[in-house]
Amino acid sequence: MTRTPAEVRSFEGRRFVRTPATAPGPLGPQMLGAFSAIRRNPVDYLESTWRTYGDVVQFPIPRPPSYLVNDPEGVRRVLVTHGRNYGKSTIQYRSLSLVTGEGLLVADTEAWRRQRPLVQPAFHHETLNHLVSHVDTALQRRFREWESLPSDAVVDMDAAMMTSALEVVGHALFGTDLSQDAHRLARATLSALDVVVARARVPITPPNWMPTPGNRRLHRAVRELDAAVEDMLQERRQNPSEVPADMLDLLLLARDQQGSGLTVEEIRDQIVTFIVAGHETVASALTWAWALLADHPEIQRELQRESEEVLGGGPATFADVGRLPWARAVFDEALRLYPPAWLITRKALGPDSLGGRDIPKGALIILSPWLLHRHPDVWAHPDSFDPTRFLDGSADRNAFIPFGSGLRQCIGRDFAYVEGTLMLASIAGRYSVSYPTGGRHPKAEPLVTVRPVGGLPVRLTPR
Ligand code: HEM
Repeated sequence: MTRTPAEVRSFEGRRFVRTPATAPGPLGPQMLGAFSAIRRNPVDYLESTWRTYGDVVQFPIPRPPSYLVNDPEGVRRVLVTHGRNYGKSTIQYRSLSLVTGEGLLVADTEAWRRQRPLVQPAFHHETLNHLVSHVDTALQRRFREWESLPSDAVVDMDAAMMTSALEVVGHALFGTDLSQDAHRLARATLSALDVVVARARVPITPPNWMPTPGNRRLHRAVRELDAAVEDMLQERRQNPSEVPADMLDLLLLARDQQGSGLTVEEIRDQIVTFIVAGHETVASALTWAWALLADHPEIQRELQRESEEVLGGGPATFADVGRLPWARAVFDEALRLYPPAWLITRKALGPDSLGGRDIPKGALIILSPWLLHRHPDVWAHPDSFDPTRFLDGSADRNAFIPFGSGLRQCIGRDFAYVEGTLMLASIAGRYSVSYPTGGRHPKAEPLVTVRPVGGLPVRLTPR
């Protein structure tokens, strides 16, 4: 049932709070009834509300008034043309900041303005150049592991991509000589992240100070994180590099125009942010690309042909990245259908109008690349896997936001493209991937990123 816009009411304390409803959406009892569906799969729930109520949906939540916006122009307005009217102080980013501190990903406008120029040099050309050899190191490790398996062995490609992406971001951050501290840090980051995801799944989150098992785990992991970063920074201060060798050196050396750099705490927050933002995202996109390739052997053959032509079975160079359009298009199409960051939220700093609906100041705006990438107004046959849309120029780049868009677009976008393209091309050059008997395309579960339920068991056939 579509509600006629009237008002959203809730009982807070001893009085009713009335928030004018400015867009259609579910009524309170309907939303309460949907609670277990939301917990089971929030992206399915968002998709069903979008398909039921339209491109701007208001949820029956008065504080803050909450809207799902999937109007292509409206999304662009929030992220790009009126991006300054939308901040990041939302529940999603506040809960992530329990792990990342005030790193670039969650920083609200003021802190972000100071940090971004200081962090940018860590993503310059030299870093991307080094990245090629970090990707190759991870690949050689996988190839050695796989060579020791019998032909046609079944491997969990999801686990392989997670391990590889962690090795790549770890090497890019800390150099090839990964210390115990780096391993400790990555482990603590991932364990803290698990707790944050588990917390997001329960309707009432206990306050941080409450000694619940979840909170205790979170505090333990954050303490471990802080100690590991502190030890690493101390070690760098005692043995400073003459020439910056990795992203951590670049963060330590960064200075703004007034000559001031990032504080120790800010560096800790950026490092943890890069592990959180740069590990599972790339791994998840790669895993879905392999699942889609196993579904489409004809596209896999195109990728293999390109890999043979360009790489010829050898290691890639930085220049090769631009010579692999099929690998890039497959990665893009996987990012379209399975955008790892399936949810982007903003807080309206002032009133606005989106998709013809009034948005009050303070409103929570929920955007979902998952939904926008399936919008039939901008994508032809949106549910089909068709990388050629990215080769023939028919993909609408304005409606393609796996890395966000506008001012807060992902700083690691080029990093992800180098890694994603080379991983796909290099592995396709050596192996064919297919589902084992009884295996099939996994179900998607939206956690921090969109994960395959049960991993991705595939048969690897040497070529
Ligand atoms: C396929 C891989 C990746 C995807 C899908 C992805 C997605 C995103 C998205 C959607 C945003 C914007 C969030 C928003 O607007 O609220 C973002 C921001 C960010 N990402 Fe990525 N990301 C990826 C890889 C990486 C990598 C490899 C790194 C670092 C090593 C990274 C670091 C960051 C940071 C620091 C930000 C915040 C940028 C800012 O606000 O200035 N990401 N990412």
